Amino acid sequence: MNKYDFIDTELARRDTANQHRRLRNVTPLANACCEVDGRQMINFSSNDYLGLSQHSKLQTGAANFSSQYGSGSTASRLICGSLDCFSDIENKLAALKQVESILIFNSGFQANVSIIPALTNSDTLILSDSLNHNSIIQGISLSGCDKIIYDHNDLDHLAKSLEANNHRERKLIVTESVFSMDGDQTDIDRLVAIAQEFNAILMVDEAHATGVLGHHGMGLTAGKQVDITVGTFGKAFGSFGAYIASSEKIRDYLINCCSGFVYTTALPPAILGAIDAALELIPNMDDERRTLLDNASYLRNMLQQLGYNTGNSTTQIIPVVLGDESSTLAMSTKLEQAGIIATPIRPPTVPEGESRIRLALSAAHSREQIDTLIDVFRP
Ligand SMILES: Cc1ncc(COP(=O)(O)O)c(C=O)c1O
Repeated sequence: MNKYDFIDTELARRDTANQHRRLRNVTPLANACCEVDGRQMINFSSNDYLGLSQHSKLQTGAANFSSQYGSGSTASRLICGSLDCFSDIENKLAALKQVESILIFNSGFQANVSIIPALTNSDTLILSDSLNHNSIIQGISLSGCDKIIYDHNDLDHLAKSLEANNHRERKLIVTESVFSMDGDQTDIDRLVAIAQEFNAILMVDEAHATGVLGHHGMGLTAGKQVDITVGTFGKAFGSFGAYIASSEKIRDYLINCCSGFVYTTALPPAILGAIDAALELIPNMDDERRTLLDNASYLRNMLQQLGYNTGNSTTQIIPVVLGDESSTLAMSTKLEQAGIIATPIRPPTVPEGESRIRLALSAAHSREQIDTLIDVFRP
């Protein structure tokens, strides 16, 4: 018996199932392009929705903060890593998002995985949308709580489940606002009403809405009675990290009781410089947001005219649901041959029979690039 047998077995299984994932080196270029294996490709897979990862102001902001504060923050924020630029950014973002407070986290994954256990105990019932992101699923699993997975975006199912469990003292509803693999949206107003009716805490992950949707790009929960919003800086913000928008009381509780905040070195100054620069730009990027959503409806309409199933997407994320894994892999190869990066998404990331090409648009894409993409999908 070799101690690594389980690894050999799993990798062999993945080879046989055509599911062995590998990393590929990528060099970013301007205009939503990148170089892969010496070849220039158009990127339709990144979450750089506003093209900010290549913006000179973010790069200068990162360099400036790095020279001012140093290359690392040296400790967790509770020890001595709470540089003044954290609270500057948190205060600016809180005003824009119309919330009492913001708390910066190191990543969206870290936030979801640690906030859910922090908010729950063995008496808590968690109600989670069936298409929630893996970081939410891991957070629920770590909490060890009872859970009800309600049908995707079926808020009647959610309300009925709460009604049947109204005797539970603590209830936590968790959902995304824009779903990462489907690009559809949930109804925040109805969720708020349901959470209030059943006295449940409402936590909404805005990873894919932040920077893109809502007033000034501040997401779908801005100005709404949502208890906890998780937003990320690694997607439309073109940088890295995450934030929690909440009441001052919840922020104070998380600073004290959330392991993913307490026991980790704070984000490095360079990242904060990029976030700070993005925060200056994003509220004034309505033109880019309009271009992005126009590009998305153009692409969706063209794909639908060609007979493709784009699910319930209404955003910059457009799934082309092809069903079985082999046609999805074949389409991905065809796209790659045409100079396009468009990642195939297969189970377990999406349910069995719902393999797809996940297209993610950027305001930096030109109509010409989108037409090149559409041509590959023509039969
Ligand atoms: C819905 C959702 N939540 C959280 C995350 C994790 O965020 P981060 O990349 O900042 O760890 C992602 C990232 O893919 C996501 O799609």
